[in-house]
Amino acid sequence: MDVIQTKSLTKTYDGKGGISDVTLSVGEGIVYGFLGPNGSGKSTFVRTLLGLLQPTGGEGYILGEPIGTTKSREQVGYLPELFRYPDWLTGKQLLESHAELCKIPARQRSRRIEEVIELVGMAGRETGRISGFSKGMSQRIGLACAILNDPKVIFLDEPTSALDPIGRKDVRDLMVYLRDQGKTVFLNSHLLYEVESVCDNVSIVHQGEIVAQGAWRELMMTEAQVEIVTAGTGAVQFPPFIKSWQKGNEEEGRTRWILQLEDERDIPKILHHLSSGKVDVHEVKPITPHLEDVFMHWVNRKKESAYVDNR
Ligand SMILES: Nc1ncnc2c1ncn2[C@@H]1O[C@H](COP(=O)(O)OP(=O)(O)O)[C@@H](O)[C@H]1O
Ligand SMILES: [Mg+2]
Repeated sequence: MDVIQTKSLTKTYDGKGGISDVTLSVGEGIVYGFLGPNGSGKSTFVRTLLGLLQPTGGEGYILGEPIGTTKSREQVGYLPELFRYPDWLTGKQLLESHAELCKIPARQRSRRIEEVIELVGMAGRETGRISGFSKGMSQRIGLACAILNDPKVIFLDEPTSALDPIGRKDVRDLMVYLRDQGKTVFLNSHLLYEVESVCDNVSIVHQGEIVAQGAWRELMMTEAQVEIVTAGTGAVQFPPFIKSWQKGNEEEGRTRWILQLEDERDIPKILHHLSSGKVDVHEVKPITPHLEDVFMHWVNRKKESAYVDNR
């Protein structure tokens, strides 16, 4: 069963902004990335799924329950983008009051609280007042609240924007941990590089619309480039047939070459040509495209197809 499912789900603000026509399904035990720049509609979408905003169109289900119902929220955890805490409380007190809100039975509370404090890397610091917490610590406590109830589905809205690189890695590890426990994590992020190592499937959103959807790895394959390093220090001439793959007008007689491929399957062909042209290849390195480039690729593709459709 799909854990999250939407059909043309739309939430606009007086016909403007928000997010439109989102159709997606998210399975169990994965980290799903909902990616796009600021203002593209990510928070609106998640708040609509959680029933905090009324949809203006379409449908949505969480664990088979229609969004907006109490049942659809029962097994859900949520870390809002801008979470304001009662900052006179200590971290632990916040979790205690949260545990009460989520009706965690009294005898399980303290053990569960200890567990989540450990999971978010706050052990030993939970008795400090939130007013004295750094942004990163507040974010960790927010995460602890989001997973306290051991939910099946966890929505994280920009969970790492306040964190330093170590904190970001911790959050990534936590997402992987949750996924490995069979949970579904729905991650909103504008930091494209961040999702690379954790997300299986993604939607890329731009100005309130989905521009691409699918397996992250496949969306990344917008172009393939390799760097060929030839052996020795002496410059070599590439055989002429290699020229068609060359990116730009690189000068002759060098030892590093960037080749632009239509397809990764061209690599063996190129190597064959090189060795029969007596070029000693020292190294072949695939070049990973910048995620921002991949993102722009899909945004532009969408614009082009809209142009074609509208004619
Ligand atoms: N309460 C609101 N009233 C009017 N417009 C809003 C409101 N909230 C968000 N928007 C608009 O909807 C669009 C998407 O916002 P948001 O969902 O916050 O995007 P993101 O989370 O991707 O940054 C933006 O253009 C924003 O200005
Ligand atoms: Mg947002």
